[in-house]
Parts: sequence; C-alpha cells; structure tokens
Amino acid sequence: MKLGDRIRLIPRNNWDYGFEALFGALAALSSNAGQAPNTENVFQQTPVWTKSGRTSLYAILKSLELPVGAKVGVPLFCCPVVFNAICQAGLSPRFIDSNTDDCNISVADLRRKRADLAVVVAVHMFGNPCDMDAIVAVADTTPVIEDCAQSILSIYRGKRTGLLSTASFFSFRCGKYISAGEGSAIFCREPELQKRIEQFVNSFESWSTLDMFVDSLFTFVKATLYNRPWYGLIGYPIGMRLDKKLNLTAKDGFETGKIASTHLALIDARIARFQERISIQRKHAHMLLNAVVPGSFSLPSEGNDCSNNWFQFALRFQNTNQRDAMAGYLLDQGIDTSKYLDNVADEARLNYGYDGDCPNAELLSKTILLVPIHYTLRTRDIEHIARSINEGSEVISNKEEVSNE
Ligand SMILES: Cc1ncc(COP(=O)(O)O)c(C=O)c1O
Repeated sequence: MKLGDRIRLIPRNNWDYGFEALFGALAALSSNAGQAPNTENVFQQTPVWTKSGRTSLYAILKSLELPVGAKVGVPLFCCPVVFNAICQAGLSPRFIDSNTDDCNISVADLRRKRADLAVVVAVHMFGNPCDMDAIVAVADTTPVIEDCAQSILSIYRGKRTGLLSTASFFSFRCGKYISAGEGSAIFCREPELQKRIEQFVNSFESWSTLDMFVDSLFTFVKATLYNRPWYGLIGYPIGMRLDKKLNLTAKDGFETGKIASTHLALIDARIARFQERISIQRKHAHMLLNAVVPGSFSLPSEGNDCSNNWFQFALRFQNTNQRDAMAGYLLDQGIDTSKYLDNVADEARLNYGYDGDCPNAELLSKTILLVPIHYTLRTRDIEHIARSINEGSEVISNKEEVSNE
C-alpha cells in the first residue's frame, strides 16, 4: 500500500479513547473519584459493575450455583471469550446454531437441544436484538442470560436489551460502544440471584492506583494506533503480524476483577448522552442500506419491532471467495474490514468440544464481512465506503463471468 493510502486507512473498529478520555481517567485517579454512574435513566436499574464482560458472565454463571459440567446453551457464532467464561465457571458449552438472516441464535435449534441445558446465553449479535420472547418461552424454567456486549441501547419490542431475561451483562471495552478501556455492568431481575452476584463480585480484587495509571496510558497508546493516521502506518501492520503469530482467543483463563474507577468515570461521562452517537451510527447504516446495491451479498436489516444500535454492519456473501475478494478490494480502497469469527468452528472443535452440529453458524463465520460505519467517521467516508462496495461488487461479478466462460 502507498504511504498516502496507509495514512487514510479506515480502521475496522472504533477505539474512541483520545485525550479527553485519558484526562478523564487520570482525573478520576487523582481525585479518587469513580462514583458509580447513575444508570437508572438509561436502564431503570442499578447494575453490579465488574472488570469485563467475560468476568460478568463468569460471575452470573457461578452465582447460579449449577452442578459442575452442567450444559450452557450458547450460539457457536459468538465471541470465543464467552465459551472461555463458561469453562472457567466449571460448566460446558452446548453449541446452538444461528439464523443466517440476522446472525442471532436459532430458536428452532434451541428447542431441539433445550432438554440438555441448565442455562441459555442469548447474544444480541452486532446490536440486533434476538427474538427474546421466543427464547424465553422455549427456555421455560431454564434461566436465560442476555449477552449485551454489543447491544447497548438496542430495543426489542419497546424494551431495552438487558431487561428481558434472568440476568444480562454489557461490555465497555475499547472497540465496543462507550470504549472506556474495560468494564462491564450486570443487571439481574431475581433479587436472590442479584445478592449472590453482588457477594461474589465483592470477593474480586480491586485495581491498584498504579495499575489504573498504567492501564489508562496503555489504552490511550493502543487507541492512538487504532486511529488515523497511525492505524495504516503502525496499528494495522502490527495487528496483522500478531494475528498470524498469536491465537488471542485460546482457551487460557482470564483474570476476574472489580471495575476500575478510571473506567467507571468514563462510563459516567459518556453513557447519558450516548444515544446521540448511536444515532450517528444508525444514520451511517441507513446511508449504506440506501446506497449499496446487493449483489453477491445480502445487506443486514433491522428486526421487526426492534431498534438496532447498529454496532456492526455485516454483509453476508454467497461464498468465502467472494467475501475475501471484497475484503481485498476494500483494503485497496483504504477500508479495513473484519472477517469476524472466521475460525470460530475450528477453535470450538479444538478447545470446547464442538461436534459440528451448527451448519448455519459455520457458514456465517466463512461468509460474513463487517464494514466500518463508526460514529467517528465522516459522511464522505461513508460515501466512499458505499461507492467502493458497489465497485467491488462489479469487479467480483465481472471476474466470475470471465472464469465461467
Ligand atoms: C458478544 C460478546 N460477548 C462477550 C464479550 C466479552 O466482553 P469483554 O471483552 O468485556 O470481556 C465480547 C467482547 O469481547 C463480545 O463481543
């Protein structure tokens, strides 16, 4: 890639942690602030805060006091740290297939496997709410946990995600909406379970001031490398090398912990007005939906009676070659994309006992391409992305016509 193209490379993810975030975090450190944010107006409930989404899921599962090895229904098309949290809690994942249209958990497959399950994790993938009424009905007396790592402020039939199940958790890690560094919130509808979760989380380690200081600086540096102009020059090449060398999602355990006051301060500063940022991202999604002509791929859509926060914009291709060709074309146009969960089936087979009964999820992992629509992008970036997808689509279909002749 030429130098100018590298400088302009649009990152696949949005690490929104600049000077304002760094100063906010350092101020919280020096004033020993980090009062719990008032989330009542956003969630109508007070959460239990933890270090990360994976810690929250682990804490909820432990607090359910299930027998060792009990089966947790979880979509295969899901971030493998979720499988990791299930195993760390002494339980085993039972993989559920997904719908190919909205990438969410398949209620039909859940119904088939329901008898085996002690608990169900429903993931609102890419911010698009799953069919919670159907899931809760099929689960019957089995507890359902909503994974809202990607769905903050998404709405399902008039209700915010996170308030539709036994318990739920959100993630505020950089790259997710809010991007506080790390941090997570648990919501629980059952008072007894809520008490057990609170007690369990209270036993976790707190952050030292030094650790919070180092974490804030380190997050700032990583976020800088994740933004233009440094992304194409440094962040992207390093990321590609690390991707090849490291298996970042291997089945190693993770550290649990309480939330840092630096992370709480940023969540507090951002959460109340976050709807405005989501509105910009929704506008970007609708710009693409209006401008992009589906061809070898289909466009995402918003579920009936739902409001998607459009955390991610997923194109679904007819096959892997077409997806990879589009990713290559967009990269040449200065747009980085993500082949999200490309290796999830292999990883689940190797580390988590997956036995190959989720064909739709496997297909999604090989045909989904996420294109950036972050709220930090400008209108002309989104126009460039739309134009490039349409051009890429033409290039791919011309090539296919030639090779068919
Ligand atoms: C769907 C999903 N669930 C859970 C997590 C875990 O959240 P965290 O990274 O805060 O541990 C993530 C993100 O990593 C995720 O994308």
